[in-house]
Amino acid sequence: MTSSLNHSARRLNTLAAALGCRSYLEIGVETGATLLQVAVEQRMGVDPCFAFDWQSHQGKDGLQLHPCSSDLFFAELEASTQFDLIFLDGLHTFEQTYRDILHALRHSHAGTAILIDDTVPHDVFSACRDQQECLNLRSRYANSSDNRWHGDTYKVVPLLALFHCDLCLLTLADGGNPQTLLWRPSNPLEEDAIRSMQAMWAVQNLAAADYIWFLSNRSLYNPISEAEGLQELIRSIARQDPAADER
Ligand SMILES: C[S@@+](CC[C@H](N)C(=O)[O-])C[C@H]1O[C@@H](n2cnc3c(N)ncnc32)[C@H](O)[C@@H]1O
Repeated sequence: MTSSLNHSARRLNTLAAALGCRSYLEIGVETGATLLQVAVEQRMGVDPCFAFDWQSHQGKDGLQLHPCSSDLFFAELEASTQFDLIFLDGLHTFEQTYRDILHALRHSHAGTAILIDDTVPHDVFSACRDQQECLNLRSRYANSSDNRWHGDTYKVVPLLALFHCDLCLLTLADGGNPQTLLWRPSNPLEEDAIRSMQAMWAVQNLAAADYIWFLSNRSLYNPISEAEGLQELIRSIARQDPAADER
């Protein structure tokens, strides 16, 4: 691992190398700080508002850049297109992120790894749906210029836990902003009654599933260290594809 990589690129490159990924999709690219550091042959980036000179990178080094929203991108994407590695870091609301997850799953295969950003708000302000309101309230009530904003993306985790029992999820809890890993395990997981109840309550009461709910239900996110979480996914996918062990 190279220390100059940001935490997202470091995690994605660990997965890409271990799984032999050849195609990568990033939703929400901004300055390209992550996309341009991901070492995968074919890289696609989507952002309605790129914050760098994207045209100068278009078509070079396996890069394809799409200046549009994720919804528009997926609506026009060839149905047969599949990605080996996907990073979801677009609009930080749970409904948009959930749509991005569903689209990503449609364009994934049994060995695809999906990394979801912003699933763990770090304070009550950061969990606010509106970015400007988050910053204004934090500045006024905490006298802080911290500009981190996660929105209510954390609500996708109860949705996944309740409606996607065929998927595995782990949340990398150290080494930078926490992010959730999602993949298809080789064996279906056993139903866990307590987790199902936690998720059911949150989904039935989405408006009430606030930051305090999040703090009380962190176990639903399966927090794990970065090193252990990445290895768990790599082992699980390698079990389905023994050739991946040799890559
Ligand atoms: C946090 S930044 C992405 C950072 C980038 N992934 C990185 O690691 O450096 C979020 C980006 O999502 C973009 N975005 C907002 N709404 C979007 C949407 N509906 N579809 C795709 N991207 C979106 C914003 O324009 C912004 O550039």
